[in-house]
Amino acid sequence: MKKNLIIFGTRPEAIKMAPLVKEFLKHSDTFDTKVCITAQHREMLDQVLSFFEIIPDFDLDLMKPNQNLYTLTADIITNLKPILEDFKPDFVYVHGDTTTTMAASIAAFYSGAKVCHIEAGLRTFNKRSPFPEEVNRSIAGVISDYHFSPTPSSQQNLLNENIKKDTIVVTGNTVIDALQFSAAKVTSKTYSDTEIDRLKEVVDSSKKLVLVTGHRRENHGQGFINICSALKDIAVQNNDVQIIYPVHLNPNVQKPVYELLEGISNIHLINPLSYPAFVWLMGKSYLIITDSGGVQEEAPSLGKPVLVMRNTTERPEAVEAGTVCLVGTNKDKIVTEATRLLNNTEAYSAMSTLHNPYGDGASCKRIVEFISKL
Ligand code: UD1
Ligand code: UDP
Repeated sequence: MKKNLIIFGTRPEAIKMAPLVKEFLKHSDTFDTKVCITAQHREMLDQVLSFFEIIPDFDLDLMKPNQNLYTLTADIITNLKPILEDFKPDFVYVHGDTTTTMAASIAAFYSGAKVCHIEAGLRTFNKRSPFPEEVNRSIAGVISDYHFSPTPSSQQNLLNENIKKDTIVVTGNTVIDALQFSAAKVTSKTYSDTEIDRLKEVVDSSKKLVLVTGHRRENHGQGFINICSALKDIAVQNNDVQIIYPVHLNPNVQKPVYELLEGISNIHLINPLSYPAFVWLMGKSYLIITDSGGVQEEAPSLGKPVLVMRNTTERPEAVEAGTVCLVGTNKDKIVTEATRLLNNTEAYSAMSTLHNPYGDGASCKRIVEFISKL
């Protein structure tokens, strides 16, 4: 039996690791698989665990209000030590680019386990954008023994860093596996979702729905003030638009968003949604405005145009395909591009073609197959 420890801590890692947990559990004859959550996120992580019905074997329960990178990093490494020493995994799986990813990969390396990096090789080549994610994923890349890249271009980034070709596998992004799992579960006869039922009462089908999310650390402060100011202009200038914004629980996001946008009649500020409810809402949207990484990957396969409130992206595929446009956090640019898409049908249809550069839903199968052969 090979021993696997799958470690994650935030909402997007959980969404993208959940199908891998499920895939490994199907092979319990050859793998002893355990899940460890750092709980860098709490409520937003628990929402995902509950939907995917994953009960972690270890819960470090680390989240603190308005936590900082220094203590979070130290706490993750320190608290993983006894788990790694006791369970002694052969393989540790980390995902993407969060502080959990970076710190867990260091701890796993110290323990002597082989480190497997899922969603490997994404790069902006700007170490301050996204901050601290570009450095987190680069550190995980240096440490990892096996690299599971979502696309050929992310594989190429690793080859350019002299990572050996036979340690990299192009798998597609596991987010597409998660999307397909979610679609199947939500459409099953026995499924009911009170959150989606509540949303149905909020969505005004006579209006164009603009869905907004945002949380990037480099946008905290002035960036979020600009974003809110742009959203206010879009809402006030377009009566036929409804903005729904599930606000990230980070206090550096909650404070400006509620202070600047509460009370505008066609802007609905709501709590973060469960994964299926959010996917449902993406499906109903006319346009998505976000700084999220995961949403940039999901929206193209739903045919939804995305304005990305960042200056750089590590996901060039959807930009090249024409579904995603970078607008930064410049207020005028956000308003101009949103207005163009709301009013110019040709521009809108050019951006709303279905694309799926990120996978076919079999990424986790490929990862398990590769590890099985080692
Ligand atoms: C983190 C990741 C980022 C990822 C994002 C996904 C780092 C440094 N940042 O950013 O890469 O894209 O998650 O959302 O790894 N909070 C809650 N409840 C929750 C989650 C967060 O109250 O369930 C609040 C807490 O006050 C917490 C704060 O948000 O201290 C910040 O959380 P943190 O994980 O440090 O940063 P994020 O902005 O969520
Ligand atoms: N998401 C969710 N509920 C929400 C907003 C987003 O489940 O209210 C999902 C979304 O579908 C995507 C992921 O969360 O899969 C993105 O998370 P986030 O934007 O926090 O992080 P990032 O992807 O930028 O790291």
